[in-house]
Amino acid sequence: MEKKIIIAIDGHSSCGKSTMAKQLAKEIGYVYVDTGAMYRAVTLYAMQNGLYPDEGIKEEELKTAVDSKKIQISFKFNPTTGRPDTYLNGNKVEDEIRQMDVSNRVSPIAALPFVRALLTEQQQAMGKEKGIVMDGRDIGTAVFPQAEMKVFVTASAKVRAQRRYDELMGKAKTEEEKAALHFDEILKNVEERDYIDSHREVAPLRQAEDAIVLDNSDMTREEQSAWLLEKFNEIVAKC
Ligand code: DC
Repeated sequence: MEKKIIIAIDGHSSCGKSTMAKQLAKEIGYVYVDTGAMYRAVTLYAMQNGLYPDEGIKEEELKTAVDSKKIQISFKFNPTTGRPDTYLNGNKVEDEIRQMDVSNRVSPIAALPFVRALLTEQQQAMGKEKGIVMDGRDIGTAVFPQAEMKVFVTASAKVRAQRRYDELMGKAKTEEEKAALHFDEILKNVEERDYIDSHREVAPLRQAEDAIVLDNSDMTREEQSAWLLEKFNEIVAKC
């Protein structure tokens, strides 16, 4: 049987990493893990429990919740959408964690060393058996520096903001929800997250030296999928 490997897909926010990673996992029969969803779930927990007021994160209290294992994150495959849904303490939170209020708060949560330590440990456990496609910011550098395949995906901030805008527009159910979406606000959020993610002290977003770079600003989904599958086949053939 073909040897199973670990595939780490890192890159900037909203560059289509998850779509590519999910598609690849499906094609090759690997498990897909969206680590951004895990940081988003911790953020939602903090928001729901009064640990993230406008003044800032209540770090001590959040750390106590983390240490006492009050934040359990899991994934369950949804046969209708064909992708895993995120659960926080047994409740499905897949839609809530994608909302703008969570997107606006997640980067400072992801910069906390105790949050990163908890999630990194869980992610390493998920990859023990290999046969996994994991997407995030630090998978090839911190979570699985030994991953056999590392891809660093990027696209211009404007292209990424437009993609996020289109995605949120597509999901908006009412005219009111659509009117609340502003491209400039989304672009600002994308740029701010890039800055925080790349400048934090622990596991900042950076390209691993041995990663293959994919700038997908001018590529279709099909072209990206084909590119990724080709790279996978090349790497597996050498393993
Ligand atoms: O990929 P995403 O937009 O859902 O990620 C949400 C946030 O979590 C983003 O600001 C970066 C952070 N993140 C991280 O720091 N490390 C990861 N492995 C994944 C996401």
